[in-house]
Amino acid sequence: MSFSCYPLFSAALFFEFFLLSFLALLRSSDCLVNVTRGRIPRQLSVNFYAKSCPQVDQIVASVTSEQFREAPVSAPATIRLFFHDCFVEGCDASILTSTRPGSKDLAERDALDNKELAVEAFESINKAKALVESKCPGVVSCADILAIAARDFVHLTGGPYYQVKKGRWDGKISMASRVPSNIPHSNSTVNELLRLFSSKGLTLEDLVVLSGAHTIGFSHCKHFVDRLYNYKGTKQPDPAIDPRLLKALKMSCPQFGGNTDIVAPFDVTTPFSFDNAYYGNIEAKLGLLASDQALALDPRTKPLVQALAKDKQKFFLAFAAAMDKMGSIGVKKGPRHGEKRRDCSMHM
Ligand code: HEM
Repeated sequence: MSFSCYPLFSAALFFEFFLLSFLALLRSSDCLVNVTRGRIPRQLSVNFYAKSCPQVDQIVASVTSEQFREAPVSAPATIRLFFHDCFVEGCDASILTSTRPGSKDLAERDALDNKELAVEAFESINKAKALVESKCPGVVSCADILAIAARDFVHLTGGPYYQVKKGRWDGKISMASRVPSNIPHSNSTVNELLRLFSSKGLTLEDLVVLSGAHTIGFSHCKHFVDRLYNYKGTKQPDPAIDPRLLKALKMSCPQFGGNTDIVAPFDVTTPFSFDNAYYGNIEAKLGLLASDQALALDPRTKPLVQALAKDKQKFFLAFAAAMDKMGSIGVKKGPRHGEKRRDCSMHM
């Protein structure tokens, strides 16, 4: 990061102290297109609903823009919801269904790795679905609405606008037990991340580019607290954290007994705007998660981190293409494997 960014950094950290508890309360209030290779099917299209629901993007946009005004946390939360949906059983809205009452088989949504997905994200999709159903009943899948809403929130926070391909059906299977092995963790190594992404048909470039979504949003302390006090069992902080960031994060996140609702922003320089600052931050040891920081350290991913840090336009184009690719993982077509839910939280 260039020296001129430091005043911003300090201002953001200062701002952060006042915002953190407020954000924590908000959180707990529960309280174009790239060529696809390999296993990803090419079967979606931008104009899929041209006859059956031509206004679908606009209908969803009217909901996402209002939701963003009322609850800005919906933006990062919905982008993450889409990622967690696509990585488990494919982009089929399997993350949206609730566990059947009385059932011991938990739905994806109730898996530990999904517990922190903010309720505002689910609300955004439910509201958009209700409005779409009122105009085009029984036509548009929840999975497509989630893909459109994620794109809208990228754009609303300052990121690129890209066309979303549609035609996904909703999944019939949603199992919490399938979540842990398909979702990356903050202490995953670059090798582990590459293996997981590759199992989804995504490349090293996709890993680095999609991780740039951490330019907005927040993380709970538990995902990085070891880096602050006891990195890899050394009883020392991670040497790859800037000392000022370390100090600030320690104040928010004590080693023991802290408030579990406290969150810290991923991007300490511009936490609310979708830009390429994430890459400059990790180059300057300002990454929040070990998995973020690792991308700037590993010789395989470092060159792309450097290129994206320098060129916002390059990041935006690559991000739009990678979201398109991620949005094609494991999509279902037709009634054999899929359904069209009326209510996104309930299977048909
Ligand atoms: C590469 C491996 C990744 C790891 C290890 C990872 C891990 C995490 C963790 C631990 C959190 C904090 C959750 C919390 O405390 O509430 C988080 C938040 C987030 N993740 Fe990731 N993530 C990864 C990739 C992605 C991808 C590919 C996307 C989207 C394309 C994404 C989007 C987000 C967003 C937007 C948030 C903020 C959520 C919010 O503020 O509500 N992440 N991620």
